[in-house]
Amino acid sequence: MEKGKQLYEGKAKKVFETDDKDLLIVSYKDDATAFNGLKKGTIKGKGVINNQMSNRLMKLLETKGVPTHFVEELSERDTLVRRVKIVPLEVIIRNISAGSFSKRYGVPEGIEFKRPTIEFSYKNDELGDPLLNDDHALALELATEEEIATIRKYAFRVNEVLREFWSGCGVTLVDFKLEFGKTSDGKIILADEISPDTCRLWDSVTKEKLDKDRFRRDMGGVEDAYAEIMRRLNEALK
Ligand code: TMP
Repeated sequence: MEKGKQLYEGKAKKVFETDDKDLLIVSYKDDATAFNGLKKGTIKGKGVINNQMSNRLMKLLETKGVPTHFVEELSERDTLVRRVKIVPLEVIIRNISAGSFSKRYGVPEGIEFKRPTIEFSYKNDELGDPLLNDDHALALELATEEEIATIRKYAFRVNEVLREFWSGCGVTLVDFKLEFGKTSDGKIILADEISPDTCRLWDSVTKEKLDKDRFRRDMGGVEDAYAEIMRRLNEALK
């Protein structure tokens, strides 16, 4: 499958049309941004890692009852995916306090919740992705009640599957962000990516951060952390 016209360039990926109107090619870049594009940089080799990691995790999720956009890995950075209309909600699941949760509610990072939380943000860069609840999403007609119920169900299922998977790698899944899309026949499927850019992943023993927080917080060792988390995934899926 060949790349056609470029449809879109995002902060971390480009999206191309193909000969098939229901299929797109996503191409992962090494570019990294944080704080809604305010901080810019490059994480060498990130595109390859995020492409491969996202694809392998989506393949795993498919076997566990979560439909995804993944079709076929075409190369180190390029993947064929089902075309969807992205539901403009960032869906965030948290198992442990960190990041904006800690800041918003004035609690330290690292508190383990008795049960995971879900929250939605309105995917809108100009507004800075504001937090919103189900009723707001309905009022803004971002999704239907039924679609929100499906998204919740899949998001918690993703959490169950990935928590268990990462735990087997000696990694704690702290939180993550998902995006869902709607196919031409109206089905909700998991889209976008699952990678160290979109998840907080801590070494279970040392609590060392193995994700994009190293870039966001200028901690150094960013490339090494991406390589280490990929190494653990490869080891587990050997
Ligand atoms: P937060 O604590 O900053 O709200 O982030 C929660 C999770 O969502 C964390 O794993 C990082 C991920 N995330 C993204 O993937 N994209 C974003 O734009 C933001 C703000 C967070």
